[in-house]
Amino acid sequence: MPRITRIENSITHCRNPEQKALLAAACRAALAAGLLIKERYRQPHNITMKGAINLVTETDVAAEAIITALLTEDTPGIPIMAEETTASHTLEAEQLWVVDPLDGTTNFAHGFPFFAVSIALLDHGRPVVGAVYAPLLDELFCAVSACGAWLNDQAIAVTDTSRLIEALIGTGFPYEIEQTLPKVIGQLATVLPRVRDIRRAGAAALDLAYVACSRLDGFYEINLQPWDTAAGWLLVEEAGGQVSTFSGAPYSPFAPEILASNRALHRQLLELLR
Ligand code: IPD
Ligand code: CA
Ligand code: CA
Repeated sequence: MPRITRIENSITHCRNPEQKALLAAACRAALAAGLLIKERYRQPHNITMKGAINLVTETDVAAEAIITALLTEDTPGIPIMAEETTASHTLEAEQLWVVDPLDGTTNFAHGFPFFAVSIALLDHGRPVVGAVYAPLLDELFCAVSACGAWLNDQAIAVTDTSRLIEALIGTGFPYEIEQTLPKVIGQLATVLPRVRDIRRAGAAALDLAYVACSRLDGFYEINLQPWDTAAGWLLVEEAGGQVSTFSGAPYSPFAPEILASNRALHRQLLELLR
């Protein structure tokens, strides 16, 4: 098992050696990829387009290669679904690593310092270990199912805000904006006048981590992919929050929408988004 000094406290909360090994593997890979991303942040980027506004850089691909190599070394036999190379994997596998090597690529490419690495282990479609690492602030968020959630090895918890008008809510806009614009604008028009403010910071995994550590009271977005949400979903739940679809059904990484909140606000946000 790799020894990761950054999670010495967190790892003591794991219930068994398998959880410890999985947490260490996720964090080692996230930190290594984050280091590369940080090194390349101020250098010119080689950008290719996956769609009209959907970028990928050589750093996304290089970060993914590091993560894949380390996860394969630490947990041989566990398949990997990673955004840039193996996105077509199904979630039916008993255990599956789900990897976003660089969440917030548009931010990275434009020099907007809000992006992260996201790695989760799903077991029959439920997250059991998650790590989100924001390299510029050197913030490592991690969580283990039924054990807790941590930011730089300190336990984190969601806010206790119970009034919408006091809530700071995160959201995001899908790349398929032409098809989804009426829906996105409709949701904004409903939520924005009822809350304190909305943030569209540009990295869904980090948005979810921010709900987990009390920087946001809630987050919603449509059309996200399993690698955007898997780790953040676990962070929010382990920090005491709630994650569901817009109808209140249990979240699944294939769901077309996600609402994450501090739990106290969940019902009120559902009423707005339903
Ligand atoms: C994107 C970011 C963004 C969200 C998009 C995602 P990427 O991920 O999380 O905040 O609004 O829907 O696809 O492409 O930067 O990994
Ligand atoms: Ca992403
Ligand atoms: Ca990505």
